[in-house]
Amino acid sequence: MFGRVKPLDAILATAEKKGLHRSLGPIQLTLLGVGAIIGTGIFVLTAAAAQKAGPGMMWSFVIAGFVCAVAALCYSELASMVPVSGSAYTYSYAVVGELLAWMVGWALILEYAVAASAVSVGWSGYFMGLVKSLTGFELPAMLRAGPTWTMNGVIPHPDFSTGLINVPAIFVALAVTALLVRGTKESATFNAVLVAIKVAALTMFIILTLPVLDRSHFMPFAPNGWFGPAGTSGMGIVGAASSIFFAYVGFDAVSTAAEETKDPQRNVPIGLIGSLALCTIFYLLVAAGAIGAIGAQPTGMGVPPGSAEFTQQCAALAAQGQEPLVCSNEALAHVLRAVNYSWAGDLIGLAANLALPSVILMMMFGQTRIFFVMARDGLLPEKLASVHPKWKTPHVVTIVTGVFVAIAAALLPVGQLADISNSGTLFAFFMVALAVLILRLRDPNRVRPFRTPLVWVIGPIAAVGCVFLFFNLPFEAMIVLPVWGAIGLVFYFAYGFRMSHVGRGLVEVHEEDEDVPPQSVPPIS
Ligand code: ALA
Repeated sequence: MFGRVKPLDAILATAEKKGLHRSLGPIQLTLLGVGAIIGTGIFVLTAAAAQKAGPGMMWSFVIAGFVCAVAALCYSELASMVPVSGSAYTYSYAVVGELLAWMVGWALILEYAVAASAVSVGWSGYFMGLVKSLTGFELPAMLRAGPTWTMNGVIPHPDFSTGLINVPAIFVALAVTALLVRGTKESATFNAVLVAIKVAALTMFIILTLPVLDRSHFMPFAPNGWFGPAGTSGMGIVGAASSIFFAYVGFDAVSTAAEETKDPQRNVPIGLIGSLALCTIFYLLVAAGAIGAIGAQPTGMGVPPGSAEFTQQCAALAAQGQEPLVCSNEALAHVLRAVNYSWAGDLIGLAANLALPSVILMMMFGQTRIFFVMARDGLLPEKLASVHPKWKTPHVVTIVTGVFVAIAAALLPVGQLADISNSGTLFAFFMVALAVLILRLRDPNRVRPFRTPLVWVIGPIAAVGCVFLFFNLPFEAMIVLPVWGAIGLVFYFAYGFRMSHVGRGLVEVHEEDEDVPPQSVPPIS
């Protein structure tokens, strides 16, 4: 299992044959990154971060951005060396062998599919907010949010006081699935327009909120301290960093474009660090604007967002005519409406409604590609990798993914989905950091189009950073990874171990298969 390694040379030979045209420069790469990164994290999770950290969430954005930046530098080395689809799963297959690659692929399901669910729920909040603001119509509370889950040991327990099922989230998840099955080719121009809409919306938010900034709203700065009150998990500034990490996920789009980049050694780090830095600056300004405009104090010390206690506190405040930032499902629109810019609140709602589906699309697309490669490697049933005769899309795996994404979006709140997604992402990034270091030792002379600078400093910092953030997730999210991993192991030994192509002595890379579906989201060019 550990010895079942996909030969790097075979992978590289294929990638070389593919010979993609190197056309991307640093600015396009940075834009590509910004487009993939900005989404539910800043538009929605700002409220959850405030409930965890208060105004101290400013630090949370910095911490999460830093861990992402070092992880991104490691990710790029592998992405440029092994430029084929399947991302961290394929990298691990070539470096640490089949079993760990399977575990990484399995964890990536959490990263991509669950992130798609999280963004669907985020979209739902903004959609309902916009509909209410424009028409006064509101779905019953039970139909616009799922229950919140707590743990009895390792048994999840739903609390229906927050809601029953999120109907708009199901709708958007299935709509995106239909687009993917039908075969969407998001054009480069369309992608650029969406980036512009997101950036314009955040810029408008900053311009309108910073002038009404009230310094007293920043005090107390860290009501829950760095790690939250004793007996809580995932709270405080660091707990908020673990959650807001979600806001930076997506930069892998830059790493995976490495093979299409001119002078990758120079431009990939510029694109990565550039897009992460730009997003961090935007996020900090948006956070400062939101805090300064209406304050960001939690409803109570150590009360986790989304919990039953939190819901009750928000309901009690609403009964008194108050809706603090932390209680809002559409944080940024809410802030603007609260400072009497209703039109701007609607505009930002519209921007979120237009732009978030493309984030769902990218996430679901990434997921189907990983499933596809895993199925073609024999680790999942090959039926999953069948391609639609007319539309040329991996329709089976797309529909399976879409149904799961919709179910998770229907039944879980956005904060919990984002935290679960983070647990998988942090594991995958941790493995990537290790893989980079292992490969430097094992195969030091191989050509690396991009080399992680100061790898013996950056690599360990990235690995430790991922572990640190993981252990500061809420307990409910943390426990998902080992439970999910255990299910994955059962699957592997029941199926993949016997059916694996590498295990059966077949060396193959599927990039060249005649029917391989195209990448649907081309880089901005
Ligand atoms: N970073 C992406 C978002 O915030 C996943 O929606």
